[in-house]
Amino acid sequence: MRPIDVTPLIADPHGTYAALREAGPVHRAAGPDGRPAWLVTRYEDVRRALADPRLSLDKRNALPGNYAGFPLPPALDANLLNMDPPDHTRVRGLVAKAFTPGRVEKLRGPVRAVAGSLLDAVEPLGRADLLAAYAGPLPIIVICDLLGVPQADRVDFRAWTDALVTPDPERPHRTKEAVVGMMRFLTGLIERKRAEPADDLLSDLIQVQEDGDSLSPDELTSLAFLILFAGYENTVHLIGNAVLALLDHPGTLAELRKNPDGVGAALEELNRWDGPATLAIRRFPLEDVEIGGVRVPAGETVLLSIASANRDPRQFPGSDRLDLGRERSGHLAFGHGIHYCLGAALARMEAETALTVLLERCEEMELDVPRDALEWRPTIRARGLISLPVRWSSRRRTGF
Ligand code: HEM
Repeated sequence: MRPIDVTPLIADPHGTYAALREAGPVHRAAGPDGRPAWLVTRYEDVRRALADPRLSLDKRNALPGNYAGFPLPPALDANLLNMDPPDHTRVRGLVAKAFTPGRVEKLRGPVRAVAGSLLDAVEPLGRADLLAAYAGPLPIIVICDLLGVPQADRVDFRAWTDALVTPDPERPHRTKEAVVGMMRFLTGLIERKRAEPADDLLSDLIQVQEDGDSLSPDELTSLAFLILFAGYENTVHLIGNAVLALLDHPGTLAELRKNPDGVGAALEELNRWDGPATLAIRRFPLEDVEIGGVRVPAGETVLLSIASANRDPRQFPGSDRLDLGRERSGHLAFGHGIHYCLGAALARMEAETALTVLLERCEEMELDVPRDALEWRPTIRARGLISLPVRWSSRRRTGF
């Protein structure tokens, strides 16, 4: 099978995936690390593969030399997205004890307050880059509150996560600096929490123990890293992509303004239609497996396209239409199976609150640049804009 060119997936993921899906269920492609991989495009195959125990997330099961991935040190790499059972079951069980629905629900009020204060700063101006001023800072404040990162220590996570998600081959030192920065920061924070526990997730994780079994030091740092990274990165772009989708569909936006209680349900369709997580974490077959009728040899890299599965018309009739009334869902935007997103409830609550507050306060929103001037981040791994300049009429300015 000849490898396909993945570059068009950045500018036009959905059109490109539509063509790939129809051409075949599985393609040879270069992965984000430039190494060869198998790209799976259809809903049923992606869903089944996400929950297939023969597909390992542990990169020690990759064929030697066939996979490069993120060059992370053990203190960041011993995380859930690089683990299979039984380690995965143990660590996830321990986190689930600390990361409870109650803890998420307790954040609803504070998230609304943070969203409000971020808008206080820009609303009267009538225009802003919504990513820099709103969608970006909100999840980082929330995740820092959740983990218990003191105010004075809130460093520039955005620069670090950007360097990891979109590594610049011209500037490899940038990625290295981000990795070292993250690691130092997290190790220091854990030491401080160990000495002075507080009412936060990190202190709970340090305390948490089950049947005498606890998290190893690497597992604890890696978990904090994963929660920071995953909890931030995808939420920013769920909000950003959702706002853009609504600006592109003014009728739908108007409907939602009339029915603000529908924002939560709308976000499910927005996440299906143009969610931030386009590829699942790479998998490595423990034995030769068949996916969509194609034999994939043990140890080769498998990329499951969530973006493509979520637009597969076999599952979602009229799949390219943004349809807030869509009945059948089962989208895979948060994954499926044992690795189903641990932060899904938090992400939903944050995005719902962010969108609700934005709609309450900013009327007549529209793009502040020509539509074709918007730029997407140069990666096939995730879908997110570099900036989202928007203008609006402010209730405050107009005296409402
Ligand atoms: C819109 C926001 C989010 C999206 C679209 C998203 C998406 C995903 C997806 C697709 C997976 C599964 C990956 C796979 O199986 O290959 C996943 C796993 C995970 N997510 Fe999220 N996520 C979001 C927000 C969050 C938040 C807010 C947190 C934490 C605060 C979080 C923490 C995690 C963790 C820890 C895992 C690994 C779970 C495991 O391996 O058992 N995510 N996420």
